[in-house]
Amino acid sequence: MSLFKEALSVRDRAYAKYSGFKVGCAIRSTDGSVFVGCNVENVAFPEGTCAEAGAIAAMIAAGKHEIKEVLVVADSPKPVSPCGGCRQKLAEFSKPGVPVTLANLEGPQKTMTVKELLPGAFDAEHMGHE
Ligand code: THU
Repeated sequence: MSLFKEALSVRDRAYAKYSGFKVGCAIRSTDGSVFVGCNVENVAFPEGTCAEAGAIAAMIAAGKHEIKEVLVVADSPKPVSPCGGCRQKLAEFSKPGVPVTLANLEGPQKTMTVKELLPGAFDAEHMGHE
C-alpha cells in the first residue's frame, strides 16, 4: 500500500476529540517497513501526541532507526506541515535529504526535505557527539 493510503487509513483512527483535527502519518524505514501513527489528544491538552510521534514510536518499538520517507495527511486546504517538535523528532532518525510529503484528503500536495523543514537543526554534533 502507498504511504498516502497507509496514512489516510490510520488518520481515521485518530483521537482528536478536542481539536477535531485528525492527522495520519506513515513512515517508511530504510529496510522498507512501514509504520503509522495518528494524533492522540488528551483532556489535559499538552499531554496530546502528534501523528508523527506515534509513527516514530512504532518504528523504534519495532527495532528500526533510519527513516527513508515520510507522509503526513490531514483534511486541510493548505497541506498539513509537521509542528516544530515533530520536525526535531523526524530529524533524529533521518538524513537531511529525507523527503516529507504533505498531503490532504485529495492526495500528496508537496514534498519537502527534513532539512528544508528544520534548517540549522540542533544535532548531536552540537554536543560533541557523532
Ligand atoms: N498535529 C499532528 O498530529 N501533527 C502535525 O503535524 C500537526 C498537528 C495534531 C496535534 C493536535 O492533536 C491537532 O493536530 C491540532 O493541532
